[in-house]
Amino acid sequence: MTCNILVGGSWGDEGKGKCITYLCNQDKPDIIARAGVGPNAGHSVEFNGEKYGLRMIPSGFVHTDARLLIGAGVLVDPQVFHHELDYLNKYQVKGRTFADFRCAIIEEEHKEQDKASDHLFKKIGSTGTGCGPANRDRALRTVKQAMDIDSMEGYTADVPLEVNTALDEGKDVFIEGSQGFGLSLYYGTYPYVTSKDTTASSAAADVGVGPTRIDDVIVVFKSYITRVGEGPFPSEISQEKAEEMDIEEYGTVTGRRRRVGLFDMDMARESCMINGATQIALTCVDRLYDSCERVTEYSGLSGEIKRFVEEIEDATKVPVTIISTGPDLTDTIDLREELL
Ligand code: GTP
Ligand code: IMP
Ligand code: MG
Repeated sequence: MTCNILVGGSWGDEGKGKCITYLCNQDKPDIIARAGVGPNAGHSVEFNGEKYGLRMIPSGFVHTDARLLIGAGVLVDPQVFHHELDYLNKYQVKGRTFADFRCAIIEEEHKEQDKASDHLFKKIGSTGTGCGPANRDRALRTVKQAMDIDSMEGYTADVPLEVNTALDEGKDVFIEGSQGFGLSLYYGTYPYVTSKDTTASSAAADVGVGPTRIDDVIVVFKSYITRVGEGPFPSEISQEKAEEMDIEEYGTVTGRRRRVGLFDMDMARESCMINGATQIALTCVDRLYDSCERVTEYSGLSGEIKRFVEEIEDATKVPVTIISTGPDLTDTIDLREELL
């Protein structure tokens, strides 16, 4: 029986989608439960030569025996939810994907208000997906829940009951967070943050699991940092420098160019502390160091990369257990055995 949580360590887009897919395909948990804010997320999953961009359905969908649940803390946009059920039809997601009946619903007006708001869309640089206004209405206790609307009929479940019963029966549960530490409403770069806390404790609460039941907290960092939207970014570099280093990026949800910066040890340390990290997954090392593209063994990494990994472990006091060397789930160095 294990219950693990994976969250982002920076400002989102750390490559959580890739890490979740790898871990779920490898460990085959019985339940994969989505936590986090809502459809403002854009996880990328590359598998068998195909690429998927996901906003609502858990990124662990490639493991076709798992139940895919969306926790009560997550905002559901029914249009996005049904679109992704069709989009992932090949993975038999219908019949095994359910949202908690208490999930708050994003309606058209939330999306319109988000995009029309000078404060949210222009100043903060929100994704325009309606998450801020929907969480506002949730706090005001006027928002609709999944059980109130026809289009979610037949697609709801009691997520905490399912998750806790599974754990009682000795099954494995994987909880996937979205966004990242720097976007937390509590601990991020306020007011340039998202509309709720994004740390591991909130991810557990999102799906209704108490802190005593969590085994591992895996925090994902990219080898460099990206940020979309406005707000402080101490290690930011110029777009010219990012192009020179060949690490420019564009967003999955909004297509916006991501701001780019160098790895930030201070942020990593704080992020590991507040998340209670027990493991670190480090992604996109191949984009910083060409020599390690698609390498799957630690011994295949150059001394320079090994030193980078050691520096992160020294600063955070947390072991780096997953090193991602390419977007496909097979491009992974898995060091978890060494912890045992
Ligand atoms: P949010 O939930 O929106 O925060 O997203 P995310 O953390 O799932 O990350 P996202 O998929 O938005 O961005 C990461 C990008 O890096 C995607 O294009 C991935 O395919 C890619 N990626 C992930 N890991 C690796 C890696 O190790 N190497 C390379 N080259 N690309 C990677
Ligand atoms: P909102 O969550 O749409 O209100 O956006 C608030 C801030 O969080 C903006 O800077 C967004 O760019 C950022 N943001 C929200 N979700 C994600 C994500 O999944 N990845 C990266 N940035 C995000
Ligand atoms: Mg993303």
